[in-house]
Amino acid sequence: MSSKLKLYLGRKVLDCVNKPNISNLQNVIQVENNTKSGNVNLKLPLVCLEAQIGSSEIPKLLKIQPDDIIKQLKIENKCITFEIDKKLFIADVIESCANPDLNLDNEKIVVEYSSPNVAKPFHLGHLRSTIIGNYIGNINKFLRNDVTRINYLGDWGTQFGFIKVGVEDLKYTSENIKENPIKLLYKCYVHANKLAEKDPNILERAKVEFAKLENGSIEDIKNWRVIIGYTKDELKKTYERLGVQFDEYNYESMYGSKDIQDVIDILKNKKLLIKQKDGKETIKMNDKNITILKSDGSTLYLSRDIAAAMHRYKKYNFDKMFYVVENGQHDHFSALKHVIKEMGCKWSDKLTHVKFGRIRGLSTRKGTAVFLNDILDECRELMIQKQVLSPNTKVPISDDRISDILGISCVIVNDLKQRRQKDYEFDWDRVLQVQGDTGVKFQYTHCRLCSLEQNSGATPAKVCVPEALDEPEALILLKHLAKFQEVLLASQEQLEACILVNYLFHLCNHISKALKVLQIKGANPDIASQRLLLFNTSREVLKNGMNILGLQPLNQM
Ligand code: ARG
Repeated sequence: MSSKLKLYLGRKVLDCVNKPNISNLQNVIQVENNTKSGNVNLKLPLVCLEAQIGSSEIPKLLKIQPDDIIKQLKIENKCITFEIDKKLFIADVIESCANPDLNLDNEKIVVEYSSPNVAKPFHLGHLRSTIIGNYIGNINKFLRNDVTRINYLGDWGTQFGFIKVGVEDLKYTSENIKENPIKLLYKCYVHANKLAEKDPNILERAKVEFAKLENGSIEDIKNWRVIIGYTKDELKKTYERLGVQFDEYNYESMYGSKDIQDVIDILKNKKLLIKQKDGKETIKMNDKNITILKSDGSTLYLSRDIAAAMHRYKKYNFDKMFYVVENGQHDHFSALKHVIKEMGCKWSDKLTHVKFGRIRGLSTRKGTAVFLNDILDECRELMIQKQVLSPNTKVPISDDRISDILGISCVIVNDLKQRRQKDYEFDWDRVLQVQGDTGVKFQYTHCRLCSLEQNSGATPAKVCVPEALDEPEALILLKHLAKFQEVLLASQEQLEACILVNYLFHLCNHISKALKVLQIKGANPDIASQRLLLFNTSREVLKNGMNILGLQPLNQM
């Protein structure tokens, strides 16, 4: 629901300057953070107006007359600030904060994330991509955009010739592979590479095998797809464990010679392709040559990405497409955008590479972890140990589903609390801390609020009576709840989950302070039900925030 108060203020401003058609002014109105004072101030940054009405019009805003809602207004520090009637504010927050409706035009968003390579370890870069991409999909969905989530599996390139050689040499049948696809295929890959170190013919054999695939030998491709299918099924189980979903699985192998040929033709027509002496086809970017086609005519990671982008634009007509891929691929994505632009596609600026830094030092404590499931298993084990030690544990430890969710919450929160582009160190003890700013804090606070409703004996009020929420702790909490909407917008715009994570940490702290003062058991029933309404609203905001981060809120732990 939209905040009626913000809509009202937006309208007042627009009527005053006689510009009824500026839209969505309510979304830039912010709650002032003066937690000490008992006043409620909402402010509108003037930059948001100046571009549209001209700065000379700004003083006119002082003509807005105070009324039942606006007690006072002033212009200072580049903002117009409204002091608002406290009771109206409280009722408005309770009504609208948890599911803010921003009345924005909904946009078509494509977000591509995770995108591991078949038969190669799902490394930490893929884990970060999965976590960050999932968050980007979720926040856009929550703000009512149309979201399509794509997982683009790397299943193409000369390395797949190696895997074929490995599979043949180790004589694995497709049945063997089905049982344990990710580890077996990786084994084949490693095996073939070892062979190649001793025997130069192996490289040739791998090239031939890949060329057979690339040139579309139907039988080979069919077998290949079957093997990839097993990998996908296994990946899906891990994604389920993480609470991550996709609308589509795409494959690099979807973009074969034919699709690339279309790209080549466009570039040729525009006279952009340069044939190098060694036979490569390249195009210029600044002073560098970027290769589009290898000398033997086979395709490259880049050419497949060009074809994929064209295909997706045709299919989705997106307003934005996000590629959630590590910093290290910066040059690749600059080249991709450059080529698409040169091809004359006006939509090249709708492509965004959402870059992120590296995680250092994450290996299982027993050795180097390569497989994500091993890392998640280890998290679960460590969580179980902590639950056994904690006096607060209320669930049977044998329910390791809960331990799993707690461990995963910690991994996700630890990742999303960092600025995206920063490299960071993975420290098991810090990540899984029971006290402090970790995923446990969100889960613990959420569980506390769930049990509050069950055990307090009160029923939450249906209608808010602001007079009953008069304590400073209540007002501080309410002001913080009111900021949920602006936090979501900032987090979405900057593609920084840490803005939301920090907000939620503060929310947990405010909730915990309020829980100490605003007793429910033993309070007058009317007051108790108002307090419960406040705590349930807080729980709703926390739950929505957690869902956006990709956490699965627990009711008991
Ligand atoms: N599979 C690639 C890798 O692991 C990442 C793919 C990223 N997405 C893309 N459209 N290029 O390095």
